[in-house]
Amino acid sequence: MADINSIKEFVRENLDELNYMHTKKVVKIALALAEKEGANKEIVEIAAWLHDIGKSDKDSTAINHHSLGVKIAEDLLKKKGTNPEQIKEICYIIETHMGPPCKFWSSELKKVGRTFDFPRPDTKESKIIYDADMIDLCSPFGIAKIIHLGARRGKDFLESIESAKDTAFAAYNDLQTKSGKELGERYFKVSKEFFEIIEGK
Ligand SMILES: [Fe+2]
Ligand SMILES: [Fe+2]
Repeated sequence: MADINSIKEFVRENLDELNYMHTKKVVKIALALAEKEGANKEIVEIAAWLHDIGKSDKDSTAINHHSLGVKIAEDLLKKKGTNPEQIKEICYIIETHMGPPCKFWSSELKKVGRTFDFPRPDTKESKIIYDADMIDLCSPFGIAKIIHLGARRGKDFLESIESAKDTAFAAYNDLQTKSGKELGERYFKVSKEFFEIIEGK
């Protein structure tokens, strides 16, 4: 198996600050879930580090970073002498991490004549990475990220808040594993209160 420190170094050098911060959180959450779900921790850790590596590609868009990530991860892991079965498993996890089905994806995919048609996670390890990604997305960090990206794309304040709320709720409601649902509840509780306060409830 590839040396984890060299993978981590590669990710740190290639992702921007926001995506690197998010990735570190996904690794931490994914390892906690892997422990509880009895999953392969080595596969989970490498896949968590690499799940968003597609965002380092200059051709990356909202809807293609999973496919670009598969190519980058495959090349990197081959160079590091990782066994082909493990490469396949890690690439499957990267390929199936896109979600949650929400208004953001509907509008992005509509522009290219698609509906939500990303491949879904169907193994223990892929569900763990998916859940770790969704837990970070429905957490206060994920909400801050969506509002920041919304502003960068020219959305006004309320539009950004609305988009963050829709995505956070969709992410929480799409958690796949028992442990993910348990841990996600803790993170999402704070986010729900955040929206309630914004809405003056
Ligand atoms: Fe992603
Ligand atoms: Fe992610």
